[in-house]
Amino acid sequence: MRNSEAIEKRRTFGIIAHPDAGKTTLTEKLLLFGGAIQTAGAVKNNKIKKTATSDFMEIEKQRGISVATSVMAFEYAGKQVNILDTPGHKDFAEDTYRTLTAVDSVILVIDCANGVESQTEKLMEVCRMRNTPVIIFVNKMDREGKDSFTLLDELEDKLTIKVRPLTWPIGMGDRFKGVYNIYQQNLNLFQANKTKREEEIVSIKDLNDPQLNDIVGDAFADELREELEVINGVYDEFNREAYLRGEVAPVFFGSAVNNFGIQELLDTFIEISPSPIGRESDSRYVEPNDAKFSGFVFKIHANLDPKHRDRIAFLRIVSGKFERNKFYHHVRMEKNFKFPNPTSFMAQDKSVIDEAFPGDVIGLYDTGNFKIGDTLTEGEKMMYKGIPSFSPEIFMELENLDPMKSKQLDKGIRQLTDEGVAQMFIIQPGNRKIVGTVGQLQFEVIQHRLINEYAANCRFAPKNYFKACWITTEDKTQLESFIKAKGNYLAKDKDENLVFLAETQFLLNMAEQDYPDITFHKTSEFKLES
Ligand code: G4P
Repeated sequence: MRNSEAIEKRRTFGIIAHPDAGKTTLTEKLLLFGGAIQTAGAVKNNKIKKTATSDFMEIEKQRGISVATSVMAFEYAGKQVNILDTPGHKDFAEDTYRTLTAVDSVILVIDCANGVESQTEKLMEVCRMRNTPVIIFVNKMDREGKDSFTLLDELEDKLTIKVRPLTWPIGMGDRFKGVYNIYQQNLNLFQANKTKREEEIVSIKDLNDPQLNDIVGDAFADELREELEVINGVYDEFNREAYLRGEVAPVFFGSAVNNFGIQELLDTFIEISPSPIGRESDSRYVEPNDAKFSGFVFKIHANLDPKHRDRIAFLRIVSGKFERNKFYHHVRMEKNFKFPNPTSFMAQDKSVIDEAFPGDVIGLYDTGNFKIGDTLTEGEKMMYKGIPSFSPEIFMELENLDPMKSKQLDKGIRQLTDEGVAQMFIIQPGNRKIVGTVGQLQFEVIQHRLINEYAANCRFAPKNYFKACWITTEDKTQLESFIKAKGNYLAKDKDENLVFLAETQFLLNMAEQDYPDITFHKTSEFKLES
């Protein structure tokens, strides 16, 4: 396939939502309508989870939260749709933010009763930073929720983006009749239907058509006419260019669990969403149709399959064509690697691929060479920018409960922290391991995985650190005196970089004042800062 054709064919996007708004359900329904799975309910019944798709870990099932990010690809209407799943829980926000660097657009799911929630706002901020095009799906219309106009105002206010409804609900909750597709001028009548994908669509081009009254009754028909008049008066015509610039978000209404409103969403998504776009590197902007291959790693996951000890780096292809068994340049390591078993993630399966194109996300088996943000090229020395790194906020010491298993524990914590959801600092004497994260729940996940995946019995004990600061300086004397004075608060990260673990803001300020020639970096990305 020619590159330009492949690029035009691909749609790579993420679904984001505050937990419980219906992201998992919508993902499943998109797979259902896309023909990638045959029965709904599979994600929830864990039928799919067990094989390859959404969530990897037992803990996720127990807690009902989606922790890991995975990729699901399927073909629909001549397009290859790549869905990048993201965790909704705030403790895993980092993972979601990084995944958003690998998508070209997003679908944001809102619960019609809860409206814009805290996580919704944060996720939108990240989208706005990169002007990512956003489609909004207002879910759970089969339940009583906020008035739809109030909701649109709330979306505009809190998310600081213009909205433009492309479908419009008729009633809600018990009185929910269906949605009118403003874009295609037809009426989709609601039926509670949790497993199949049948929809009753009636074409009503002229809203004055008395058929509308016959179908939904006089009161609803009049209400719909009035409301659509208001919409057409208040909101500008939908403008695809403005959507692609991230300035206006088209809005759809529906009920994911009832398969309702999904077809409109999917069809419009295919029509309007962007094909793969380029990315900024530290030396230039790279277009997807650049002849030479390049891509970046945005996620690493160890032990994807507990039966095989493997680690997979998720690579988003930005330009050119990726080919199996061809040597590519690992820019940070200044080494060339080839990949005999790159995998794609078609909905139910992981399978080895021979080639992949811009917009695709592939899995590369990794023996420890990759870090998040790493760039592969055909030789050009450039690194992709904008992969956020985080300063840990919560610290705990990892305690080994089984001295016979220290090797496993050591290996496990190193591999898991390589995934980028936590950082590890080692304090001497005694090789004590301090783990820092941005969310409490990560400790539970790490502990659970250490026990289950590495058979390393362990627990975490809280530590009262306020911040970890990587320190650099040209002034050796000052460094020596700092090490002498603060030795008890110094640790090394996994790459042997010196880190100051400050207990309070005050102590950090004092250190900065007393040692003016030392730089205190708040994230581990200091090498890129200079
Ligand atoms: P999340 O991934 O965003 O966290 O949400 P998820 O899809 O797991 O949905 C959260 C809950 O909302 C689920 O109920 C789900 O069935 C329900 N839900 C999703 N879409 C709709 C909808 O359109 N209408 C209504 N009424 N409910 C919806 P649960 O009780 O947590 O799980 P389950 O036992 O129903 O599977």
